[in-house]
Amino acid sequence: MRILQFGATGQVSRAMIAGAPGRAILTPLSRADVDLADEAAIEAAIAAADCDLVVNCAAFTLVDKAEAEPEAARAANALAPAAMARACARRGLPLVHLSTDCVFDGTLDRAYREDDAPNPLSVYGATKLDGETAVLAWEKGVVLRVSWVFSRFGRNFIRTMLQLGRARDELRVVADQYGCPTDAVALADFILGAAPRWAGAAPGDAAFGLFHFTNAGATSRHDLAAAALRQDPLTRARLSPIAKRDFPEPAARPLNGALDSGRVSAVFGWQAEPWASAVARAADQIIAEGLDA
Ligand SMILES: NC(=O)c1ccc[n+]([C@@H]2O[C@H](COP(=O)([O-])OP(=O)(O)OC[C@H]3O[C@@H](n4cnc5c(N)ncnc54)[C@H](OP(=O)(O)O)[C@@H]3O)[C@@H](O)[C@H]2O)c1
Repeated sequence: MRILQFGATGQVSRAMIAGAPGRAILTPLSRADVDLADEAAIEAAIAAADCDLVVNCAAFTLVDKAEAEPEAARAANALAPAAMARACARRGLPLVHLSTDCVFDGTLDRAYREDDAPNPLSVYGATKLDGETAVLAWEKGVVLRVSWVFSRFGRNFIRTMLQLGRARDELRVVADQYGCPTDAVALADFILGAAPRWAGAAPGDAAFGLFHFTNAGATSRHDLAAAALRQDPLTRARLSPIAKRDFPEPAARPLNGALDSGRVSAVFGWQAEPWASAVARAADQIIAEGLDA
């Protein structure tokens, strides 16, 4: 299985690189190899690649910064995946792309399913939704919507909470915003495991299309922070719950971003691990490797 991967330095990219040996020959492309702003370079990379599948782990992921830089966010999150889809369609290659719970407005009182109507609240969410649409226009396109991604790799909420937990006496964390944490390592494991199926499937196969992919269960930001801090004997911060309205950010986020991952279980037989054990394991790894790694 040969996979061309956009993204080499991000959380999911690094989890894919770590998980690939023995399962796939991965060619990760960094920003220096191909900038997402360069549609021609994206198309040329796919045209020249010796691969069975293309996976896009790269994106403009700075949700607040996207409000100030909508054109850069649009280039990376909407125009780049559209170029990937065009180039993959020319060669008949399946394309796996990652998206976000931020395509929803969060007003639903249950976990979102794939057929619920999106209504993004932010530039990030709107540009990611346009990227989804472009990828799904290719009949061998796959979009995996994930949320609250964490891992031992790179920047994420778990690492930030662990750092602040040692630096502060009190941590005020939003308790009325809900989501389903997603372990980047499990996501990489799923993609690598499903890759042969995508590579061998014909258009119309249920393996193509839109899927939600998270760990099992939903939680609040506050309880997610508590689960991480519980693992750290050196934490000293007391956690205080606050309301989202008391923690304003430049970009609006869904108060309920919980995703229902039933479809990925039904189509691929994927058994999601409960979020709490996966978070505890990632927190242990981050603590063991050093919080600044
Ligand atoms: N993190 C989350 O909580 C979360 C939640 C929902 C959905 N997602 C989605 O999941 C996917 C993976 O997220 P992640 O957490 O792994 O992201 P990440 O750690 O922020 O990594 C983003 C990657 O994209 C690359 N990139 C950004 N702009 C680029 C450009 N113009 N040209 C080339 N490469 C560029 C970055 O490269 P540099 O290192 O060079 O900047 C980095 O490798 C994304 O599609 C994201 O939208 C993430």
